Amino acid sequence: MKILSTAAFSVVLLLAACRTAQTQSQPQVIVVPHDEMTRTPSVGEATSAPAPAQAQSSPEAAGYSSAPVHSSGKTSYSACYVDGPYIAMTFDDGPSAELTPKLLDALKQRGIKATFFMVGQCVAQNPDIVRRMVDEGHEVANHSWNHPALTKLGPDGVKRQLSDTSDMIFRACGVRPVVMRPPYGATNATLNKRINDEYGMKVVLWSVDPLDWKYRNADRVYNSITQAAQPGSIILAHDIHASTVAAMPRVFDTLLAKGYKFVTVSELIAMNRPELATKKQEPSMPSSAPVSTPVNN
Ligand code: NI
Repeated sequence: MKILSTAAFSVVLLLAACRTAQTQSQPQVIVVPHDEMTRTPSVGEATSAPAPAQAQSSPEAAGYSSAPVHSSGKTSYSACYVDGPYIAMTFDDGPSAELTPKLLDALKQRGIKATFFMVGQCVAQNPDIVRRMVDEGHEVANHSWNHPALTKLGPDGVKRQLSDTSDMIFRACGVRPVVMRPPYGATNATLNKRINDEYGMKVVLWSVDPLDWKYRNADRVYNSITQAAQPGSIILAHDIHASTVAAMPRVFDTLLAKGYKFVTVSELIAMNRPELATKKQEPSMPSSAPVSTPVNN
């Protein structure tokens, strides 16, 4: 099967993605890749509003249009309503010993803050990179220990995936994550509530997905992100793919030129104003038509 062979190939790539040359003694656990699983991220309490295919990058696509929920009670976010040109750039599945430092250089040169949803076993292998993230103002966030679908695990499995990763991030940089992203966006309202209540983390999905894990093409990544970004967007990308990291300087420069301001996910959530959803939304800045791409990360 083409799908199976692609998935198997991805396992090999992901296992190699975060390794450093000198730390091979760490016991390895199989990482489940971003493969061809078709999974639409659910958005907790907002799942009753299906996302229209042509408006994936809009707040409406994130499910906010029909039933705005007050910020304080929300357990998950795919995008935010903001009163300004704010967006959050997020990078998953690292850190990568080779690629993440290059990305951090590009961010630093432009004074841009991002959020890193990290896999615990990669954190264990690259603690210096995690420390650098914090030193340079980025947000460190939890993306499980080895990337399983949390919805398929029992409470003990979820606890190990989340607690071990937050502990490892804290050990690396002294900061405990307050946001997490479930692998594949696989979650539900019950799991979201437990993650909020028991682990003190908001669940963060995304509203712009360039499918960079699937299409390893920097031009495509660039076009997808720059055309779909809107105020309040949470943009998904992966700092374990060379094509993604290669696209980022242009992505950043174009979005900066359009007037966007980059904030961390927690900063974006703090700006969320659900009452804006009740108004007829006026675009607060010019933007191109959203790109139509399936959400299956
Ligand atoms: Ni991931």
